[in-house]
Amino acid sequence: MRPISLLYGLGLTVSAWAQSGSIEAYIASESPIAKAGVLANIGPNGSKSQGAKAGVVIASPSTSDPDYLYTWTRDSALVFKAIIDEFTLGRDTTLRPHIDNYVTSQIQQQQVSNPSGTVSTGGLGEPKFHIDLSAFTGGWGRPQRDGPALRATAIIAYANWLIEQGNTTYVTNTIWPVLELDLNYVVANWNFTGFDLWEEVSSASFFTTAAQHRSLREGATLATKLGKTSLATSYTTQAVNTLCFLQSYWNPSGGYVTANTGGGRSGKDANVALASLHTFDPAAGCDAVTFQPCSDKALSNLKVYVDAFRSIYPINSGISSSAAVATGRYPEDTYYNGNPWYLTTAAVAEQLYDAIIVWKAQGSIQVTSTSLAFFQQLVPSAAVGTYASSSTTYTTLLNAVQTYADGFILVAARYTPSDGSLAEQYLRATGAPVSAKDLTWSYASLLTAFKAREGVASAGWGAAGLTVPATCSTGGGGGSGGATVAVTFNVQATTVFGENIYITGSVDALRNWSPDNAILLSSANYPSWSLTVNLPASTRIEYKYIRKYNGAVTWLADPNNVLTTPASGTYTVNDNWR
Ligand SMILES: *[C@@H]1O[C@H](CO)[C@@H](O)[C@H](O)[C@H]1NC(C)=O
Ligand SMILES: *[C@@H]1O[C@H](CO)[C@@H](O)[C@H](O)[C@H]1NC(C)=O
Ligand SMILES: *[C@@H]1O[C@H](CO)[C@@H](O)[C@H](O)[C@H]1NC(C)=O
Repeated sequence: MRPISLLYGLGLTVSAWAQSGSIEAYIASESPIAKAGVLANIGPNGSKSQGAKAGVVIASPSTSDPDYLYTWTRDSALVFKAIIDEFTLGRDTTLRPHIDNYVTSQIQQQQVSNPSGTVSTGGLGEPKFHIDLSAFTGGWGRPQRDGPALRATAIIAYANWLIEQGNTTYVTNTIWPVLELDLNYVVANWNFTGFDLWEEVSSASFFTTAAQHRSLREGATLATKLGKTSLATSYTTQAVNTLCFLQSYWNPSGGYVTANTGGGRSGKDANVALASLHTFDPAAGCDAVTFQPCSDKALSNLKVYVDAFRSIYPINSGISSSAAVATGRYPEDTYYNGNPWYLTTAAVAEQLYDAIIVWKAQGSIQVTSTSLAFFQQLVPSAAVGTYASSSTTYTTLLNAVQTYADGFILVAARYTPSDGSLAEQYLRATGAPVSAKDLTWSYASLLTAFKAREGVASAGWGAAGLTVPATCSTGGGGGSGGATVAVTFNVQATTVFGENIYITGSVDALRNWSPDNAILLSSANYPSWSLTVNLPASTRIEYKYIRKYNGAVTWLADPNNVLTTPASGTYTVNDNWR
């Protein structure tokens, strides 16, 4: 989550918490603990989440070092997607009251005005709330644009099940309004920058784009089912645009997906494996357009990502380059000095288990020049080709991937304490648990990996057979290559001598939120500062003024200012510094 600077002592010795034994033994003991760990963190009755409203997922009961006793839209949606899948697959029929509570809680949360805006001015992009659902108003990396998409995906899974049960009335009257808000937010905002899932980099982010794409596809299908055809058309239009944009994250020379368009890092990041498994559609085969878990691009990316951790964590030293290791968020991570996380290690296993599900279903494994390095790491003699399930090569490759995937679960097992509790991270030097205890997402990530290992896939979302247009268009919000209008910004601001007022915002013409490249306003009519600039027509634009004085930058207080440009003509906004 958010980086803070911390120093800490070394933990106990490994033997105090290590779990050893077979993977089956670990799964048998950890499954009920992980499930209880998830439910303990959900209001109103969860044993570790006192004070949380019904259906609210706390990130962790930890209140200091770090304080995670909040509810994040992303984490909650991912956790509830896992719960909804358990319920709709018939694996646990007792979960329905929690799911209904979640829907009710999100109806309320959507309406809470917060520093990102109101429900209609960007507030759905707010990343976290207090557990009584009041707004969190402290400084944070906001907005985060994956939350509404992930929430839509979770709730759509429930809506589809309800419709199958003949309960369309509840979907239309109660569930659809929540989904429409979230999906319309995705339509209007996918092409704006926002913070990534680790809340650190403001740019575009692969995980976010992939989640947005998925939500728009299944949102369009559901809208069609409910007879909302013009909404379905709008969702599909932007789904095509997001799928097009999704392709641009692929780095062909590196053989991996660059996770963020900004941030100045290698871009090797658990972001991508998480995106792949959370957009898994068993009907889509090994399609690389949607980076399916068994696609050559996703496998190549996985190798590059895992290898990035082999030499940087002491607990990985001495492990064969063909065996599983502890993995973290990204190699440059410095949060708590940069450690492996349980949920990222589990994600590697889950992506591979998902791949195995598809290979078994289609009865073959294809090795391409893109995925060759991944397969050769496990089976040095692997060669480009398609191997039918009757061949020995297929069996060799499949068994090698299964062993490799199990290895990541066994790494998590080795660093799971004897009581089975899962924190957020385990120390890079010793494997001792560190950072937030009982992280809900850690528990959920192990449960979904175990389920995938059983060969159980969740319902698909329409990923099969998608094609990418030859040229990409921007979203309704991001500014198209089309018409522009002259927009005049006037802001009243008193300044000291040598201090100047600049503007930056969410479109190229406003320098894409770059304080360094922000545009200077004229003080000719001081204390009114002014600028006229051509901006894309019919576009929702967020912006802020900043002060620069002796190299120091001061941003206008939150929330972002917002305007929507007209289709033609000119437009003027009059603001005050605050
Ligand atoms: C929470 O506890 C109350 C009181 O026992 C009960 O009525 C309710 O069904 C519980 N809610 C859930 C989601 O288990
Ligand atoms: C439809 O589902 C809702 C939510 O679980 C439930 O409250 C309602 O009783 C259901 N209606 C019918 C007719 O099953
Ligand atoms: C908006 O979409 C265009 C076209 O795909 C892309 O080049 C640009 O990077 C996108 N920007 C963001 C912030 O998503």
